[in-house]
Amino acid sequence: MKAVVLVGGAGTRLRPLTYTTPKPLLPIANVAFLERQLTWLARYGVDEAVLSLGYLPEAFTDHFSDERFGDMKLRFVVEHEPLGTAGGIRFAADGINERVLVCNGDVLTDLDLGAFVDFHESHGAEATISLARVDDPSAFGVVPTREDGEVIAFVEKPLRDQAPTNWINAGTYVLEPSVLSSIPLRLNVSIERETFPRMLERPGQLYAMRSEGYWLDIGTPTKYLEAQMDVLEGKAGLPPTPTAVEREPGVWIEPGALIASDATLIAPVLIGSDSTVEPRARVASSVVGPRASIGAGAVVTDSVVLADTAVDAGAELDGVVLGPDARLDGKAEA
Ligand code: GDD
Ligand code: MG
Repeated sequence: MKAVVLVGGAGTRLRPLTYTTPKPLLPIANVAFLERQLTWLARYGVDEAVLSLGYLPEAFTDHFSDERFGDMKLRFVVEHEPLGTAGGIRFAADGINERVLVCNGDVLTDLDLGAFVDFHESHGAEATISLARVDDPSAFGVVPTREDGEVIAFVEKPLRDQAPTNWINAGTYVLEPSVLSSIPLRLNVSIERETFPRMLERPGQLYAMRSEGYWLDIGTPTKYLEAQMDVLEGKAGLPPTPTAVEREPGVWIEPGALIASDATLIAPVLIGSDSTVEPRARVASSVVGPRASIGAGAVVTDSVVLADTAVDAGAELDGVVLGPDARLDGKAEA
């Protein structure tokens, strides 16, 4: 099966990190987020993914320069101006004449794609949306359904007290070719505000499947930090990285990391490859990126220290994403 991954957005809520690295390539526990997502798609059997690019496309073509991810073939389709979510899907899927999986490129989930495609098939839907349950639905597409899963309404980002349900669009879809061809080519179209609401005009087309599994949109600073802790705690499936070794429960060390014997590591923690943690440093509920250094006596709590970043001796970091390639010689807290 083929997938279209929407990765064209500018990731504005994660600036300044996204000025240089597009959101899907930001590391989550030292692995580019998109690699985690492609691993999830590959496990289900997706053999070709089309990346729908717009913002900083070269970052993706450089990252996946052999146009493959393991056994999966990658194709890059670049929009020269933002086409929106549906416009982006239509443009990327041009020439594809079969059922496709579509996903937002910033959603970390262990959704069972096999069950999802089966649900779509058994309802004879034209499109099926996966749903997740959240406490505050106002930042999402809100999707009330009938008992059998048929969508009643699609309300993108309602006011908090006007959301009809806590079940929201989780950003993974199965679309039939008829849906793709209904989207005008090369125009800016929103799947949430135009395509899905329009499909409701004819009954029996649009269904949604509720799922209680792990789900998180990584697109804000708080969620970006939360995602890393969740990965370290094993909530998102798979071990945090293919190469890290679990030294004690929840304490993961990558090859080449040098950790002083009197440094303190408090789970969940991941120390990246070729990094150093110097004497008396304390790293708790945090990720240290590759080639980073945590100086003597420094204290790093609830934070992410990105690649090639130096935390000087005695510095303190709390609730912060630092780097990449930065230096802290004082105190930083959220
Ligand atoms: N190619 C392309 N072109 N991709 C785009 C464009 C575009 O013009 N605009 C956004 N994207 C990509 C983003 O890169 C991201 O991966 C995905 O589309 C969704 O955009 P976000 O900006 O992250 O949207 P959101 O989080 O506010 O809301 C969306 O996701 C929620 C779930 O996380 C909506 O789909 C909501 O309905 C949904 O609940
Ligand atoms: Mg998002």
